[in-house]
Amino acid sequence: MFAHPTVPVIAIDGPSASGKGTVARRIADEYGWVYFDSGLLYRAVGMIILTNQVDLSHLDRVNWATIVAQLNPVVMAHPDLKLESVGQLASRVAAVEALRTQLMYFQCNLLSKLSSDQFLVMDGRDIGTVIFPDAWLKFYITASVGVRAQRRHSEMKKRGVHHTLEEVAKDLEARDFRDLSRQSAPLKLAHDALLIDTSHLTAQEVFQRLCYFIDAKLKKAFA
Ligand code: DC
Repeated sequence: MFAHPTVPVIAIDGPSASGKGTVARRIADEYGWVYFDSGLLYRAVGMIILTNQVDLSHLDRVNWATIVAQLNPVVMAHPDLKLESVGQLASRVAAVEALRTQLMYFQCNLLSKLSSDQFLVMDGRDIGTVIFPDAWLKFYITASVGVRAQRRHSEMKKRGVHHTLEEVAKDLEARDFRDLSRQSAPLKLAHDALLIDTSHLTAQEVFQRLCYFIDAKLKKAFA
């Protein structure tokens, strides 16, 4: 059993298409920990408000507790959640503070699902800054817009989704702007996060780098 002076969370924040989700999932697999993609929450909320035909110009009038109550494993696993259009919508609803407060309770509750020897590996935009400021270890994963656009573009191509590289880059920039400039919990580097620029790293190298820091910290915790 681990002794935690902090909460047992590995927070992995960063902009879209930085590779944070891929590495977070691999870390959870490698160590037998629990993975949670917080972006899915905002994507699912985006889909729910689309289904409920909520007027996007009146997000301030939405009863967010009712919307959040509709989140369930089926909604969270919907294949359309990964669409870029849903990502854009997620980024719009993510600016609403009242929604973020509701989702904060949801995310903090995830800790109760951990067994005593597990960590929660969670990726998002505000995990290390707002949701779990006392996380055991924090990473901020980033890459240049050009590299992120290339990655997103080839990943979309593999899925049979065709957009030009310029369109993908423009969408990423729009999303970055919204995520970085919103008033409530904007994407930012936590003062105690390890910054990893993946622009010139392979997914395997990113994974190895994170494992290095995790192993070093685990070793120290048991020394
Ligand atoms: O990580 P993602 O692309 O699935 O996230 C979709 C949007 O959700 C992202 O543009 C901003 C928002 N988001 C957020 O505001 N806070 C989080 N912790 C995770 C995602």
